This record gives sequence, structure tokens and C-alpha cells, in this order.
Amino acid sequence: MHTSASLLPALRPRTQERLYDFYEELRSADDLFWDRRLDAWIATGHAVVSRAAADPRLSSVRYPDIEAVSEELRPLARVLSRQMLYSDAPDHSRLRALLSRAFTPRSAAKLRDRISGAVEQIITRAAPTGRMDVVADLARPLPLTIICDLLDVPEQDRPTLSSWSDPIAEAIGSSRLDAEHNRAASQSMARMLAYLRELLTRHDSPPAPHTLRALLTAQAQNTDQDFDELLANCALLLIAGHETTTHFIGNAALALLSHPDAADRLRRRPDLMPAAVEELLRYDSPVQLMLRRARHDLDLAGRTIPAGQVVLLVCGAANRDPAAFPEPDLLDFERPGGRHVAFGYGPHFCLGAALARLEGAIVLEALLTRLPGLRLDGPPPKWQRSLNFRGLTRLDVAFTQFSADHDSGRTQATATDGSPCSVSRATNAGT
Ligand code: HEM
Repeated sequence: MHTSASLLPALRPRTQERLYDFYEELRSADDLFWDRRLDAWIATGHAVVSRAAADPRLSSVRYPDIEAVSEELRPLARVLSRQMLYSDAPDHSRLRALLSRAFTPRSAAKLRDRISGAVEQIITRAAPTGRMDVVADLARPLPLTIICDLLDVPEQDRPTLSSWSDPIAEAIGSSRLDAEHNRAASQSMARMLAYLRELLTRHDSPPAPHTLRALLTAQAQNTDQDFDELLANCALLLIAGHETTTHFIGNAALALLSHPDAADRLRRRPDLMPAAVEELLRYDSPVQLMLRRARHDLDLAGRTIPAGQVVLLVCGAANRDPAAFPEPDLLDFERPGGRHVAFGYGPHFCLGAALARLEGAIVLEALLTRLPGLRLDGPPPKWQRSLNFRGLTRLDVAFTQFSADHDSGRTQATATDGSPCSVSRATNAGT
């Protein structure tokens, strides 16, 4: 490997357009190398990424020395350090056990009607215009609606919560933000925590039974539970619960619209939807990086990693590794075997995976079956500037205008010019 090899060019718009070729260049030279510019090891091979993600010799603690963090970022770093994502056992296992009760596949399935209803509303609103920015109109509002439903957040507060989440996600997504951005992220986190504190201790509107808010409110009354820690993890759910799914919906929609044959196949074979969701997560992963740190000097894939050094696990690259996925650049819903790492691997495997899969399946089915003549219709896609996340800034599409008629009790679509549309009601493909 050339000693100047770095992951950093992945931030350049030109490289973002050919990100997976860039990863391939890195990986074929060396699937684990030291990046002098990022001061970190970069792992791009599927075997090394999945092994390292589950390796207890590697820690998930992001800020081992809070005092060394810049003054502007420090308040945010203190909160992140209490979140399960950035903790190791035993704290991690304790927090995960506490929250996982609200994130079983069964509890996600209960949200099916709510997700379908929210998607239907968005489609009905866009139908007469024949146009949509998939990111702004669908991918951003939907996951926020669902995670806020879970937390029982009043409707009128949701846009404010989202506006606090953005700068935090930006700070997590980049290690090189300026002081002003870091300060904004710290302030947003402080406001989010103050809001959640009020939400979980509010007496005027008790939480609906069996919601995540009910679980958290009960914990808030538990004197053994550290309230600040609970709030930090509640903030994690809010942020993780929507930014990533937003990117997934946008990236998956772009992949389908750029592969009309694959999209047609999925229209004809809705039973392929669960496999399609997995393949789309592999193909253009919303989370590109996981961070680990050597607890002590250790050997990883034949390299000595000194204590304290960071290893960045590039899941986006691992998911295109030909050693794990033959012809990795093909979008193939019937791809045999191979386990992608888009949701991570090991003890930190995504807690919201079942929910994200369900949201993805419902949205994709709606896009494919409810919008006749759906096509890309806008400038070439641009990605957000981030090494951690891969998500589109916007995705303009056009389709045949129609008016959604709910009077009949089923969603009947009629083109506004009077001609019939070949649109059927979404049937909620299973995940
Ligand atoms: C397509 C959407 C999503 C993707 C691609 C994604 C990806 C990931 C990845 C890669 C990790 C592991 C990070 C690591 O090991 O360092 C993770 C962890 C996590 N995710 Fe997701 N996620 C998604 C949606 C969600 C949703 C909807 C929620 C919650 C409602 C959520 C909550 C979490 C939490 C709490 C963790 C930390 C788990 C732990 O530390 O044990 N995620 N996610």
C-alpha cells in the first residue's frame, strides 16, 4: 500500500460519485492500512470489518479522554459517551437490555399500519403534482414521524427536534468540523436533552401504554437508573432512528430508479422485497463507517495495532468486497449467501434494524406500485459531505399525475387527464 493512501478523498464530490471504485482501489492495494491523514487504520475487506466489529479487544468508546476534546465539542462528547453505541460491556449490555424491549421485530411489525398510513398521506399529497423530491418529501419526514410516534412526541414539536438532530448528526459524521459547527452541535444536544427531560417527566399527558415513551418514563422513575444516561440514550434513538433511515430510503430509491430492470422485477415479484431490502442496504449503505479503538496492543489480520489507535471499519467498502459478494457492483435481489454489514455486526448490531427494514419495504413498495411512470427527473444526484454517512441531498422524480380517491374506501388512482392508471394499492410486503 502506498504510504499516502487515505480515506479522506471520499469526502470530495467527484469521489462520492465513484465511491465504490475508490474503495475498490484502496481494498485491492490493502484491506487494512494506516491512514496518516486521518490518524487511523482503515479496514475495507468484508472479513476484517466483520471480525473487528465483534472483536472484544476493540473498544467502541469514541472519546477515551473527554478533556482532550475541543472545548466546543466537549459538551456533545460527554453525552455521546453515555450512549450505548459508544460504550463497551458491561455498560453497553445493560443499556442494550433496557432498550431492546421496545425494538423487537414484533414491536416493529405493530407499526406496519402506521408506516403505511404515513406513506399513503405523503403520496396522496404529491399525486396531483406529478413530482416529488424523494428526500425532502418522503425520506426525511417518514422516519422522523415513526420514531416520534414511538416516543409519543407531540406533532407540533417534531420539526424542532429534527432541526436539533441535523447538526448533531453532522458533528458525528465528520471528525473535522470547525468550532462554530461543533458549538452548534453541542447546543442542539443540550436543547434536545432538556426537551426529552420534560417529555419523560411531564404529568399533564401520561404516555400511551406500551410505547417507547412509556418504557422510558417508567425507567425515569426508577431510582436505580441514572436519568442523564437514560436521556442520552433516548437522544441516540431519535438521531439514529431517523437520519440513517432517511439515507436508506433515498439511496434505495436512486438504485431502483437507475436499474429499471431490477425495479420491474420487484414489481412483478413482490415476494422478493425482503431480499431486495437487504441487497439495497448492501449496495449503497447509509452508514459507511464504524469506529473502534484498540484497548491494548493487538494483532488484527496480521497487522499490529498499538493500544489506543483507532480502526475505522468501512462497512460501505466491505459490502462491495468481491471476496464476500461475487460481482459486487451488480444489484441482484437473488444474490446467494453473503451477509452484509450495513447494520454492523456483533454486539452493537443495529437495534433498529427490524424497524428500518419494515419502513424500507413499505416505502419501496409504495414507490414502485403507487406512482405510475416513476422516473428520475432532475440534476445528477449529490451526496451529503460525510465520511460516516452516505445520503443524498435531494432526489427529484416525476411520475404521471393522478388524483388519489379515498371515497371508495380503497385507494383508487385516476390520472388527472382522465386516462386510467395501472396503479394498485400497496399490499404491505412482509419483511
Ligand atoms: C437503514 C437504517 C439504519 C442503518 C443503516 C443503521 C446502521 C447501524 C449500524 C451500522 C450500527 C452499528 C454501529 C457500530 O457497531 O458501531 C447501528 C447501531 C445502532 N442503531 Fe442503527 N441503523 C439504522 C436504523 C436505525 C433505527 C431506525 C434505529 C432506532 C430506532 C437505530 C438505532 C440504533 C442503535 C440504538 C444502535 C446502537 C446499538 C448498540 O450499540 O448496541 N438504527 N445502526
